Amino acid sequence: MTAASGVGGRAAVVCGVGAALPPHIVSNADLTARLDTTDEWIRSRTGIARRHVAGKDLSTTDLAVRAAAQALADGEPVTVEALVVATTTPDRCCPATAPAVATRLGLTGIPAYDLAAGCTGFLYALATAAGLIAAGTAQTALVVGADRLAALPAPGDRTTVPLFGDGAGAVVLRHGSADEAGALGPVVLGSDGTGADLIRASCPGALHMDGGDVFRHAVDRMSTASRQAAIAAGWDLADVDRLVPHQANSRITAFVARQLGVPDDRQLSTIAETGNTGAASIPLLLARSAADGHLERGHRTLLTAFGAGLTWGATTLTWPGHCRSHPPKGARRDR
Ligand code: COA
Repeated sequence: MTAASGVGGRAAVVCGVGAALPPHIVSNADLTARLDTTDEWIRSRTGIARRHVAGKDLSTTDLAVRAAAQALADGEPVTVEALVVATTTPDRCCPATAPAVATRLGLTGIPAYDLAAGCTGFLYALATAAGLIAAGTAQTALVVGADRLAALPAPGDRTTVPLFGDGAGAVVLRHGSADEAGALGPVVLGSDGTGADLIRASCPGALHMDGGDVFRHAVDRMSTASRQAAIAAGWDLADVDRLVPHQANSRITAFVARQLGVPDDRQLSTIAETGNTGAASIPLLLARSAADGHLERGHRTLLTAFGAGLTWGATTLTWPGHCRSHPPKGARRDR
């Protein structure tokens, strides 16, 4: 399914980006002290060296507020008229996270809601926020991806514990025209509930994952969605300057890049430092890359994600570059 962008000449344009990471870092060496694993196994199978993990004092709401505040301080000043929070790990089943985030940002009264689509949640949220703008419901929107996935695996499960970290990322959207830098292209989205058991967690309950099957689906779905999004935007894959794939595993993203013919030096990554941060992964990667100069004004940028559901998606934008982009709070600067 492709969600239209630029309906009636109105496009959603990215005009701010931000991110937040918990200050506490858990290295692979920390994990080897309590799990039957090695730094070499984790790095070679996943590309992950460390991950940021929130303590009890840092909720999904807290992370979302920090990332959103940074995005609002970045780029153009806007008055936010809608807020969408993508998360699989809300602090409570009810109510949703977004109204509390809005209130803490001084935005009480605006439409604010959560959206759950696993690690594809941020792209689903972008599509719905772009739809609010296209429909004229809002002139601007804040889109946040926030997750605390490190809390989901059973503490002794060596097959899942090393993979996940916590964090949040956010972008600000405003209405604009489809031909300006920052305008979102068509968003390709999909789902397949026949794979619902491949990544699952009861409420409450530990995460279970069929890693091998998930790996194969992730490569296939992200590659296909990326091709579809590029075609829908009228792009040639050879013209993609930056690939921004959901950060699940460096081997998955390497396969996707290879299938798309995108050279390694055009693929952005935070996986070594963050692990899989779920719905936060793509905006975190955008914020980080804009801050460290790997993402510059004019770069033709292809975003793609895959997650529990199964869900997947992809979209395009030419990076606006005017976003000031701070390093994610808590991030190391040595990458
Ligand atoms: N340390 C050491 N050994 C480990 C281990 C760990 N942390 N985790 C698993 N192993 C072992 C397994 O028990 C297995 O041992 P066995 O052969 O004796 O049975 C062996 O390593 C190989 O396991 P396997 O699952 O085949 O490894 P893999 O190469 O497929 O890598 C994942 C496992 C989880 C890293 C990989 O499948 C993956 O990344 N899948 C996608 C996960 C993901 O991205 N999920 C989120 C999607 S949004």
